[in-house]
Amino acid sequence: MGRSKTIIPLLWLSLVDAQINTPNLSWHAPRKTWINDLSEVINGTGTHGFIFNSSQLPPGTPYSAYNWCNMPHVRRQEYPKAMQGYTLEYVEVIHRHHKRTPYASNTFPKEGYVWDCSDEGLFYYGQPLNPSGNNSATAFWSVYTSNTNPFAPAGFNGTCQFPQITRGGLDDSFQHGKDLYGVYHDLLGFLPDDIGDKITYRVTNNVITSQVAGMLINGMYSPSETILLHIQPSSIDSLEPAYSCPAASSVYSSYGVGSTAANWTAHLTAAKPLFSSLDAISGVPVDSVDWHKSFDHYYDNLSARQCHAKLLPCNINDTSKCVTQDQADTVYRLGQYEYSFIYRDSPASLQAAVGSYGVFLAELASNIRSRISGQSPVIYRHNVAHDGSVSRLLSILQVEVMVWVGMGAEVVFEVYSKNRKRYMRILWGGQVLRSSSPVLGAVDMLDLDVFLAYVDGLVGEKAGKVVEFCAS
Ligand SMILES: *[C@@H]1O[C@H](CO)[C@@H](O)[C@H](O)[C@H]1NC(C)=O
Ligand SMILES: *[C@@H]1O[C@H](CO)[C@@H](O)[C@H](O)[C@H]1NC(C)=O
Ligand SMILES: *[C@@H]1O[C@H](CO)[C@@H](O)[C@H](O)[C@H]1NC(C)=O
Ligand SMILES: *[C@@H]1O[C@H](CO)[C@@H](O)[C@H](O)[C@H]1NC(C)=O
Ligand SMILES: *[C@@H]1O[C@H](CO)[C@@H](O)[C@H](O)[C@H]1NC(C)=O
Ligand SMILES: *[C@@H]1O[C@H](CO)[C@@H](O)[C@H](O)[C@H]1NC(C)=O
Ligand SMILES: *[C@@H]1O[C@H](CO)[C@@H](O)[C@H](O)[C@H]1NC(C)=O
Ligand SMILES: *[C@@H]1O[C@H](CO)[C@@H](O)[C@H](O)[C@H]1NC(C)=O
Repeated sequence: MGRSKTIIPLLWLSLVDAQINTPNLSWHAPRKTWINDLSEVINGTGTHGFIFNSSQLPPGTPYSAYNWCNMPHVRRQEYPKAMQGYTLEYVEVIHRHHKRTPYASNTFPKEGYVWDCSDEGLFYYGQPLNPSGNNSATAFWSVYTSNTNPFAPAGFNGTCQFPQITRGGLDDSFQHGKDLYGVYHDLLGFLPDDIGDKITYRVTNNVITSQVAGMLINGMYSPSETILLHIQPSSIDSLEPAYSCPAASSVYSSYGVGSTAANWTAHLTAAKPLFSSLDAISGVPVDSVDWHKSFDHYYDNLSARQCHAKLLPCNINDTSKCVTQDQADTVYRLGQYEYSFIYRDSPASLQAAVGSYGVFLAELASNIRSRISGQSPVIYRHNVAHDGSVSRLLSILQVEVMVWVGMGAEVVFEVYSKNRKRYMRILWGGQVLRSSSPVLGAVDMLDLDVFLAYVDGLVGEKAGKVVEFCAS
């Protein structure tokens, strides 16, 4: 008895040591579900409980359900409290912005109706920061088109910039902030009562993330003073990501969007009849490469409408020909399939994500290190980002089941300490993230050194391996 008690901890320690010294950095296949099963995606029906038509869940639906319009995040009702004895030391949150209008590139050549955003203002101005400077007026944008400007915009008429966060998306952002505060301040007493120097917020160069941040911060702190949003120069932004990594782009295009690889084109070929029906209704030219190299545009077009309780589109010449819910559901299944293929199913996805998002991971590791070494006062970092950010992050973490990350989709990194050791817990959609990598597994009080060894091993110190790969 006495022996096994000592042998097991020793064996355990040596396993942990091995994972720290030589972590397995290989790609591991995601779990098989309907999402990465082409016949289920093409020949199946419905959306397997995934929701696309409201920020609110239908009654009786568990909060953890996939809701494209408003993905689940950390909130008090479902928060899995850490076991006793673990002390929370550092939190870093990253999530996609909340729901928005479509991008102009995803609107049909001619839209049958207007999209109105006059129920909100996009505040944009510069103001001197030296205390004695004159103040700016709190000025906001109001979008209009004039009868004299002969160039009608492609897509919708109306009073929105495509894209912008919609009124509903602003409300969801506010609630997201309230929910996080409800856990990290009210429930855990981890966050201080004021933002001070312990909390920072970061946005990308795409203005929609700032639109979210303002509402979200007010949902958390309702601060009376002005709040600083960290942002990197647009050419090197690691959060968006926007830094240049030609090697990663060429890996992605070798197997994913734009490639002629048979296993990528298989779903596009199988979906030809669907493309034809959608083109006939929308007026999208059948030879438009952008609209047919993936389902991205149709997915964004249809889901943005449905999230805002707008009807599915009809042909502008014959309003009896409309996109059906079955067709929309098929587009939504295909979108999930594409994200899983691009970010997880392809064995090359890990290297492509490390190249294009490794800098953010290096920054995360550095943030953690500077906190636990006492060099930085920041205990909570909050990043508002995009689907391209969160997808690549999940790709690097090798999430077990990949989805197209919807509006507000969130990953939270929590660093704990116990008995002078530190641990990592990762929450995805508010629950413990499960990784296909044997190094990470269910990331629930993983030895922090193992997590850092995994990140360092992939991206290198100061993202050195990213630099090397990107230039290759
Ligand atoms: C990583 O783990 C997989 C199985 O999970 C194994 O096939 C592979 O050889 C391992 N790679 C290394 C470098 O140990
Ligand atoms: C879908 O069903 C049809 C008819 O049964 C079949 O020919 C086709 O191969 C199936 N598609 C996929 C991708 O499995
Ligand atoms: C949204 O879609 C679900 C099926 O996914 C349906 O049950 C529900 O009635 C729809 N809700 C609205 C508001 O249209
Ligand atoms: C989607 O495409 C249809 C057809 O052209 C267009 O009428 C609609 O405005 C687009 N909607 C969105 C949200 O992009
Ligand atoms: C916008 O509205 C004008 C006037 O109603 C119309 O002529 C034009 O076709 C519309 N543009 C689009 C892109 O629908
Ligand atoms: C404010 O503007 C006025 C008018 O230009 C100028 O005289 C004054 O110096 C400015 N005040 C400060 C503090 O910059
Ligand atoms: C509507 O009819 C016009 C004129 O025939 C045509 O040019 C246009 O392509 C049609 N649009 C759609 C979406 O069918
Ligand atoms: C696609 O095909 C390539 C080349 O045969 C293969 O290496 C890769 O694993 C396949 N990808 C997926 C996701 O099946």
